[in-house]
Amino acid sequence: MFDPYTIKEDFPIFSIKVYDKPLVYLDNAATSHRPKQVIEAIRRFYEEFNANVERGLHYLSQKASEMYEDAHKTIAKFIGARSWNEVVLTYNTTYALNIVALSWGLNNLKEGDEIVLTIMEHHSNMLPWRFIAKKTGAKIKYVTIKKDYTLDYGDLESKISEKTKVIAIAQMSNVLGTINNIKYVTKLAHKVGAIVVVDGAQSVPHIPVNVKELDVDFLAFSSHKMLGPTGLGVLYGKKELLEEISPAISGGGTIRDVTLKEVIWAHIPEKLEAGTPHIAGAIGLAEAAKYLMKLGMDNVRRHERELTEYALKLLKEELEDFVIHYGPTKLNVKGGIIAFNVKGYDHHAVAAFLDTEGIAVRSGMHCAHPLHHHLGLKGTVRASFYIYNVKEDVDTLIEALKKLKRFKQ
Ligand code: ALA
Repeated sequence: MFDPYTIKEDFPIFSIKVYDKPLVYLDNAATSHRPKQVIEAIRRFYEEFNANVERGLHYLSQKASEMYEDAHKTIAKFIGARSWNEVVLTYNTTYALNIVALSWGLNNLKEGDEIVLTIMEHHSNMLPWRFIAKKTGAKIKYVTIKKDYTLDYGDLESKISEKTKVIAIAQMSNVLGTINNIKYVTKLAHKVGAIVVVDGAQSVPHIPVNVKELDVDFLAFSSHKMLGPTGLGVLYGKKELLEEISPAISGGGTIRDVTLKEVIWAHIPEKLEAGTPHIAGAIGLAEAAKYLMKLGMDNVRRHERELTEYALKLLKEELEDFVIHYGPTKLNVKGGIIAFNVKGYDHHAVAAFLDTEGIAVRSGMHCAHPLHHHLGLKGTVRASFYIYNVKEDVDTLIEALKKLKRFKQ
């Protein structure tokens, strides 16, 4: 097991003060911070290796291309992909999911087909499919959640049929922290010949994810939520699926040859990485993946599980009549995300108050409006953990909420 206090020392951001108070960063589901190892890898790339990739014969271009390809290999290892060319580097989770919807969905769906989504999806795994449904005539079915905030697997089963062609689902809800059983979903989907597109934005940075074991067809995640730079995302796809799709977004770098009549696409992943990629970002992300692999993703999960357990315990023991938590309480299906409301206070007011205490949380609907509408909520406050959070961060949050409670009395 790692020591979060030592880890914190790798993160320069924690030397800052917020209103003269130490930073308590609990907004990791929105974005994580970067350790000095990642910042250094990016700096080194720009200072010593900067060139465009796959486009030049000169020394620097060869070097940069090699590093860029190696980054794919590291990321492939991180998620257990069969080969580095199953890893497509793009801009973020949203962009990766749009690539699947536009490149696979538009070409494979037709009227009468069905797309299964869950009501806990964040907009990025919902809106692209709504667009495709409109364009193709395919129908969308939504799977609901149960009272304990877990996915209603009975409802899921009832919504899957021979008509189902795609199931798009988050592995972890960015609001409830619910961890969905993806292995079970892929089994159900593959029985009827459907593909499974997984939004891994919240899961890949926090729990061990192995694409072979889960048998997912596509998986999307973002670099910036897992210690890497912003503006970079990953689309994993099974080789045969990536090879079969024609890119909806094309241009430089995506082709082997073009005549005025014909296009011969490049091999994967290049055919899906249009334009000059975020090369330094890829190198930074590879460093982030190495950092996490060194810690061990089982340990990352264990650490966040302990913090979540501790926070839920304190909320129950000390603030039960004041704070309402939305999400499962069973820790085997709960990630390090705690969405809540405080009785008598607007969610944004709570977040603004916590900010004055040096605590960073997110408030609002967290890009998951349909879920909040389903729960009858105008918004929630969300605290989310990562490797550098410590029990004292939870204590600070609880003390601040207790202070808020005293104002009400
Ligand atoms: N990045 C968004 C979040 O904060 C979706 O959960």
